[in-house]
Amino acid sequence: MQTITLKAPSMESQIHIGTEAITARLPVLTAGQKNFVVTDSNVRALYSAWFEKYFSDARIFVLPAGEENKNFSELQAILNEMARAGMHRTSRVFAVGGGVVGDIAGLAAALFMRGVSCVQIPTSLLAQVDSSVGGKTAVDLGGVKNVVGAFYQPCEVLVSSEFLKTLPPREIKCGLGEIVKYAALNAEIFDELERNTGKFDDLDFWASLTGLCIRHKARVVEADEKENGERKSLNVGHTTGHAIELASGLSHGEGVLFGMRIETKIAIEQGVCNRVYGERLLALIDKALAVAPQSVPDFSQIGEAAENARADKKNADDGKIRMAVAKDKGAWTMLDLPFAEYKNCLIKYVK
Ligand code: GLY
Repeated sequence: MQTITLKAPSMESQIHIGTEAITARLPVLTAGQKNFVVTDSNVRALYSAWFEKYFSDARIFVLPAGEENKNFSELQAILNEMARAGMHRTSRVFAVGGGVVGDIAGLAAALFMRGVSCVQIPTSLLAQVDSSVGGKTAVDLGGVKNVVGAFYQPCEVLVSSEFLKTLPPREIKCGLGEIVKYAALNAEIFDELERNTGKFDDLDFWASLTGLCIRHKARVVEADEKENGERKSLNVGHTTGHAIELASGLSHGEGVLFGMRIETKIAIEQGVCNRVYGERLLALIDKALAVAPQSVPDFSQIGEAAENARADKKNADDGKIRMAVAKDKGAWTMLDLPFAEYKNCLIKYVK
C-alpha cells in the first residue's frame, strides 16, 4: 500500500492507495463511532456484499445516480437522514462512489454540526485520480456547477483499483479527462502518456498513474488549499469543459477533454502556448477522446455553452472568460478573453 500525506493548512489527510487501503484501513476507520455512508444507486447495487461486510452497522443513504442529483434537495435529505440516525460531532461520514457522491457527502460532512470526520472511498477513475483528494465539496445550483460548497479535507482517502473493474468503458474515459489534465501540468505524467499511447484502452495502465496524479495534486493543494493561485492550474480545460458538459449532456471527464482541446487551440492561437508542445498535447487529448468513442456529441447548443462559461465561478468581475491553459511542458498560465472573442473561438474550435 502506498500512502501519500497531504498537509493542507486546514487539516492533514492520508491518502492510501492499493487494495489494502480497504482491507487494512477500513476496519480501523469504522470502529469506535457511529458511521454514516453516502453512496449512489449504482454502487449500492454492485457492491451489496461489500457494504454488508464493512458497513453492516452503519446508516446508508443511497443517492439516485447522476450529476442532476448533486443538488440542494438531496443535500438536505442527507442532512435530515444524518439527524434522524442520531449522528453527532464524533460520528464519521463515508463517501463511497464517484465524484457526485464525494462532492455532496463531503459537503454534508462539512455542514453537519459544523463539521464531522469524512472518509472518501472513490469508486470511479475520475474520483480516484482527482476529485476525492483536496477537499473540494459542493452541489450545483441554478444550472451552474459546484457553485455552493466548502473546502473540507477528508481525514483519509482509500483508493482501491478493485472498484474500477466494474466501471463501464465510458466511465473509464471520464477519468482520462482528469489524467490528461495532469499530463498538461506535470512533465513526468506527460511523458508516461506519450510513451504509452498503445495502452490507452488498458485499465491497468490508467490505474498505475493514480499515485503520480494524486502526488501532484497533493503538492498543489498543500501550497494553495483555497485556490488563490497554484490550485487554479487544476482547472485546465475546465472552464470550457463545464460549459460543454452543461450544454451537451456529456460527462464531466468527456467535457474536460473537449474543453482542454478547445482551450489548448485557443492558447496556441493567442501565442501563450508553445505550438510544438501544444500539438503534442492535442495528440494525447485526441487519443483519449478516441477511447470508448460515442456518437458525435450534439454541439448545436455551443452558443449556450459560451453563456455557461460566462457564469463560471472562476471568472473575475470584468466580464472576461478566464481559463487555466497549458503553456509548455509542465507549465501553465491564466488566459483571459473578452466574452465575444471567446464565443467565436468556441464555435471555431469545437469541430
Ligand atoms: N478538481 C480541481 C481541484 O480539486 O482543485
